[in-house]
Amino acid sequence: MFDLDGKVCVITGGAGSLGLAAARLLHQQGARLALIDLDLAALDTATEAAFGAKSGDILRLAADVSDEAQVRRAVERTAKVYGGIDVLFSNAGIFGTVAALEDYPTEVFDKVMSVHVRGAFLMAKHVVPHMKNGGSMVLTSSVAATRGDPGVYAYITAKHALTGLMRVLAKDLAPRGIRVNAIAPGPIDNGFQKRVEDGLGEAIGRDGTEFFDEMIPMGRHGSAEEIAASVLYLASAQSGFTTGHLLMADGGMSV
Ligand SMILES: NC(=O)c1ccc[n+]([C@@H]2O[C@H](COP(=O)([O-])OP(=O)(O)OC[C@H]3O[C@@H](n4cnc5c(N)ncnc54)[C@H](O)[C@@H]3O)[C@@H](O)[C@H]2O)c1
Repeated sequence: MFDLDGKVCVITGGAGSLGLAAARLLHQQGARLALIDLDLAALDTATEAAFGAKSGDILRLAADVSDEAQVRRAVERTAKVYGGIDVLFSNAGIFGTVAALEDYPTEVFDKVMSVHVRGAFLMAKHVVPHMKNGGSMVLTSSVAATRGDPGVYAYITAKHALTGLMRVLAKDLAPRGIRVNAIAPGPIDNGFQKRVEDGLGEAIGRDGTEFFDEMIPMGRHGSAEEIAASVLYLASAQSGFTTGHLLMADGGMSV
């Protein structure tokens, strides 16, 4: 049903939890993969753990998505190896910090904006010329794109900005049949979210994970595999008339 046989899929943040879960699922559906992350050794370790003997099939590229020369190099190499690109899952991200406005470090704000917003823009800019008509782009947003939690200046601003980028891309690329959507995960049971919750827990003097669970109507965190399933839907022809959409996968947290 979600056939991606032979489709070339580029995933940023490919050594991380959501990137790797999506990689695994897309690969099961027949996709050919290029995984991009900051560090080649980390990519090797992650792909070997996730794909075992099949990890040799997967193109791994070290690039900082906020660095245009590195992005161009990684994308050109992918296009050369595979002869084109069908799907981009633009997913690399960092959280930054939580602080009062007057204390929020400007360099952290710039860095978070740069990875999420400049990074997604650069990936789109360099992938689109190689993308086949009928392709699909999925940006990783967050439930943070619908909220205004105190002190989360950079992350929330960046995730809101991605909605704007997604909409412009969706309209621009629609004539070529290229669809552009974003997935908005709620809190996921993984290391990224755990670090956020450990910091929050210390600040509020109670268990940060429980605190989040109480904000989620479904009463639990999501799994990386559940997010991967939504990415697969948006990447595949099953969502063929869906573009410019922010798909919530947040257990109802934004409702
Ligand atoms: N974990 C959650 O609860 C959650 C919820 C909503 C949204 N998200 C978003 O999901 C995406 C993936 O996060 P995750 O949970 O898999 O975390 P993760 O930390 O496991 O993965 C993120 C990956 O991005 C890579 N990365 C960071 N900066 C980069 C850069 N400049 N260039 C290239 N790669 C870079 C990291 O090395 C890492 O492998 C992020 O955009 C995050 O904001 C996560």
